[in-house]
Amino acid sequence: DNVPLEMHKTRIVQKIYLQPIERRLQAIREAGYNTFLLKNKDLFLDMLTDSGVNAMSDKQQAAMLEADDSYAGSETFTKLEEKIKEIFGKEYFLPAHQGRACENIISQTYVKPGMIVPMNYHFTTSKAHVVLNGGSVEEIFTDEALKITSEQPFKGNMDIDKLRDLIKTNGADKIAFIRLEAGTNLIGGQPHSLENMREIRKVCDEYGLLLVYDASLLADNLYFIKTREEQCKDMSIREITRELADLADIIYFSARKLGCARGGGICTNSRDAYLKMRELVTLYEGFLTYGGMSVREIEAIAVGLEETMDINMINQGPQFIEYMVKELVERGIPVVTPAGGLGCHIDAMGFLDHVPQTEYPAGALAAAFYIVSGIRGMERGTLSEQRDEAGNEILSHMELLRLAMPRRVYSLSHVKYAVDRLTWLYENRHLIGGLKFVEEPSVLRFFFGRLETT
Ligand code: F0G
Repeated sequence: DNVPLEMHKTRIVQKIYLQPIERRLQAIREAGYNTFLLKNKDLFLDMLTDSGVNAMSDKQQAAMLEADDSYAGSETFTKLEEKIKEIFGKEYFLPAHQGRACENIISQTYVKPGMIVPMNYHFTTSKAHVVLNGGSVEEIFTDEALKITSEQPFKGNMDIDKLRDLIKTNGADKIAFIRLEAGTNLIGGQPHSLENMREIRKVCDEYGLLLVYDASLLADNLYFIKTREEQCKDMSIREITRELADLADIIYFSARKLGCARGGGICTNSRDAYLKMRELVTLYEGFLTYGGMSVREIEAIAVGLEETMDINMINQGPQFIEYMVKELVERGIPVVTPAGGLGCHIDAMGFLDHVPQTEYPAGALAAAFYIVSGIRGMERGTLSEQRDEAGNEILSHMELLRLAMPRRVYSLSHVKYAVDRLTWLYENRHLIGGLKFVEEPSVLRFFFGRLETT
């Protein structure tokens, strides 16, 4: 019956509370209808993100006790460096405090005013850093990528013809680098295929361009390559990882998706790239053997990377999400298909077809869902965009309510509860109206902007 089976058991638990609906209503008002501003004590399930909130393994916890605490030359750092070398085959590793710090370093190094960064899709922070350095982002997704319902197993693929056209039209010297994102976050955690990355590599070789790989959501993408890409079904996760890594010039990642509270890094085989970026690590992050992380976190990352090579570990998120998506589809609730990684993505424009996009349907749905369930999701739509220079609203391609599935944290009954509450809300969707800003920050406004009902 496709019920996911947990290949782990729980040995430490945390008590959670379900506040009465009156309190939840008050809490969302206090939070300016922005789920980022809710307090944990008011949450039942926290499905805001899969970042920094995944369960850690006993082995990660044990490794943290062994951490070698020294400013420079720490043995712990060497362990991680060795693990990166073993798994990704990259000689040089630069630590950073998290994913966006890597994006800062890479963008400052390679993006000059007027340059373009083609991507399969942007991520909020990755785009912000390119723009901050005077560059622009061009998204070259396939036609299938933005369809809510689809049978295409790799909606995160780049359209190779569009990529070539873009390079020909603008000239290769205008391209800072090509960025490929694993488990394409903002279109529903959708993977790219190994085959697609091979084709991108060919284009890079033809035009002498750098391929930068955002591996933050690599675990999910690996699972999908293994289970959906015919020619990879007999490859081990380790072999797939190595092939992906060999195709990239620079790999960076957020370690917050590995059960860690912080952390990230950049690896490469190019001494030139390493030397260019190295100075920025010591300027913004810390010394080269910690880069803004604690040694405990560095130990946990090394173990987390190793555990990512285990199919019984990386299948947990995607299988829970697949189960949830299947249940929602059966109830006629509009949801992104095929099921991706990271979380379950509800199509807010389909759910709330009476709320115009300028009134942030995904934000409104996130607030309403919290009120009826105590579950916190995240708006991934127009609210998460930034206005253009003239102050015009940029309407996003999709309006999604993301219900993230922190890995190995929630049980199947939690998922069933979420499905039950969504079903009630869908039947009563006419109760939900739009939102408008009362306080609107100019950068990454979704994090701390405040709204009210229209
Ligand atoms: N790249 C991708 C694909 C991400 O999903 C994230 C973070 C980052 C980069 C930035 O990493 O948070 O460590 O600075 N995604 C989180 C999320 C925040 O909830 O989607 P970070």
